[in-house]
Amino acid sequence: MRIIIDDVAVLSRFAADLIAEQVSYRPDCTIGLATGSSPVPIYQELAARVASGELDLSRVRFFALDEYAGLGASHPMSYRYFLDEHVVGPCRLDPAQLRVLNGRAEDLDHECRDYEAAITAAGGIDLQILGIGHNGHIGFNEPTSSFGSRTRVVALTHQTVDANARFFDDDPEDVPLLALSQGIGTILEAGALVLIATGGGKAPAIRSAIEGELTSSVPASALQLHPQATFLVDEYAGAMLARSDFYRRERQVIARYGRTSPRRR
Ligand code: GLP
Repeated sequence: MRIIIDDVAVLSRFAADLIAEQVSYRPDCTIGLATGSSPVPIYQELAARVASGELDLSRVRFFALDEYAGLGASHPMSYRYFLDEHVVGPCRLDPAQLRVLNGRAEDLDHECRDYEAAITAAGGIDLQILGIGHNGHIGFNEPTSSFGSRTRVVALTHQTVDANARFFDDDPEDVPLLALSQGIGTILEAGALVLIATGGGKAPAIRSAIEGELTSSVPASALQLHPQATFLVDEYAGAMLARSDFYRRERQVIARYGRTSPRRR
């Protein structure tokens, strides 16, 4: 389902509702976490609900989508650090509840295989949060990544290095050129996918992902293959969608019939 919500705060509450529904359905479920600025308001909303006692995440297991190669947990630009700051601390999790790929593992290929095994051992990911890169990437699956790809070591495009330089004091030289990422095939095995995109910079990628051809050149277009994928976009990220009237109507009609959220597994 494609959902356009004009207000980012409302959008984030909607995403938090989907997560809370998943957790109330199965308190020991498994949730996949994305990094980047887009999901931050969702994590803030989750933290507020935990603080108020409305939401209990103490039995949930979390897996991160990706990590930079070479950056350890104590590096402020590592995704482990980011998720500790934005999710583990504020949501009062035990750090052991979150597994992140170890970017400093001696054998990165082994780390990736081990990560896949850990996801399988956890029973798979029930709900995966995703952002989207300007070039349509999901996780660190850059354009032309196979739709069947698994967790692996990947090279980053110039575009991604430049886009992420803002987190490295605007110096692209400091951005790692290699990363570890769940594959598109891995992501597609999650029970439900929730992709969040805000701001006009994401509008071309969102248009291609939702309405464009199914192509590895736009990794997020793979979500068209998933039966429980929800795109949550604000009016700016959704500005180039040709069928936005239908998506708004779709949401109203579905709500009228009381079917507001993805089916849980
Ligand atoms: C990074 C992450 C992606 C994320 C993307 C977009 O490249 N690896 O998982 O979706 O950034 O980030 P933002 O939400 O900050 O635009």
